[in-house]
Amino acid sequence: MKELIEQLERHHTLDASALEQLLEHATQDSDTLHYLRTTAVRTARKQFGLGIYVRGLIELSNYCRCNCLYCGLRRSNHTAERYRLTQEEVLACCEEGYRLGFRTFVLQAGEDATHTDEWLLPLVSEIRNRYPDAAITLSLGERSEASYIKLRQAGADRYLLRHEAANAELYASLHPYGRGLAHRLSCAEALQRAGYQVGLGMMIGVKGQTVKHIVEDLKLLERMQPEMVGIGPFLPHPATPLCDEPAGTLSLTLATIAIVRLLLPHALIPSTTALATLIPTGRTEGILSGANVVMPNLSPSSVRAKYAIYENKASWGAEAAEGLAALENELHNIGYHIDYTRGDFQR
Ligand code: 5AD
Ligand code: SF4
Repeated sequence: MKELIEQLERHHTLDASALEQLLEHATQDSDTLHYLRTTAVRTARKQFGLGIYVRGLIELSNYCRCNCLYCGLRRSNHTAERYRLTQEEVLACCEEGYRLGFRTFVLQAGEDATHTDEWLLPLVSEIRNRYPDAAITLSLGERSEASYIKLRQAGADRYLLRHEAANAELYASLHPYGRGLAHRLSCAEALQRAGYQVGLGMMIGVKGQTVKHIVEDLKLLERMQPEMVGIGPFLPHPATPLCDEPAGTLSLTLATIAIVRLLLPHALIPSTTALATLIPTGRTEGILSGANVVMPNLSPSSVRAKYAIYENKASWGAEAAEGLAALENELHNIGYHIDYTRGDFQR
């Protein structure tokens, strides 16, 4: 396996069967996983040093028109307590975030039908005017190409739209009421055309997903060359059809993150909240697999628990914007520190 890992490190590509072998071995043999992660960390350090970028995450609304089988915000979950921030509340989050040192704001929400262009454009423009030196990232799901273009012109720099599954059948099984994988990918391509730094990604261990499916995800990432890649374990939510499914495993999640780092050495890869929820040391384990971004929660504390895409989602301590000291301390313990710059994609 050592040879395969070194080949991946040098050439940033491997064929599908080699990737499959590597993933299988990395989850069965701790020496292989260790060597893979060490190699990924070396690659990340060449690009980013020991700095970890931070992004302030603002969860605008947990209303969602979609019905993704895995997610606690799905429209059929009538037990979810819904909320929506006002523009003033969002701006107050930005003000607090800027004061704390954040230079990227991530505006994330379910696909809330009230988030029309008319509602969003003045908000994005206002944030752009108030904080000319901060990056604006949107994570608002599938929209029209025209809308993506207008939001970009209003000042948004980046857009997160996980592809969720590169295999069309798996995608359809997880999103039986969605518009399909082809539409999802056409949105990602529209975002690329509009000049965004684009984030793709997927969960690890979701129902029906095999190692072969993950290999298809890796090949898609290699083909699309996204600037950002979000990867976390699937975590069951009690009020969804996948409530009784097991969570994704740590070893497969870390192996996948490490391989993505080697495929895309310049990519911005968060150590996700899902990983930090799976195990208490998840955030640092992600960084020690090649991740280089953390996204603390900047949402008002009154709504934080309501943005429950899965059970027991971490939003306090080092996951919270006001817990930056705790995060700095966690990073310090593994030899890293917070990098407060914007952290744009650079080749
Ligand atoms: N477990 C882990 N990740 C989830 N997501 C949604 N539901 C879950 C879950 N139950 C991920 C999806 C989505 C992102 C916002 O969170 O990949 O794109
Ligand atoms: Fe809505 Fe996103 Fe949850 Fe799907 S994953 S139900 S789009 S919030």
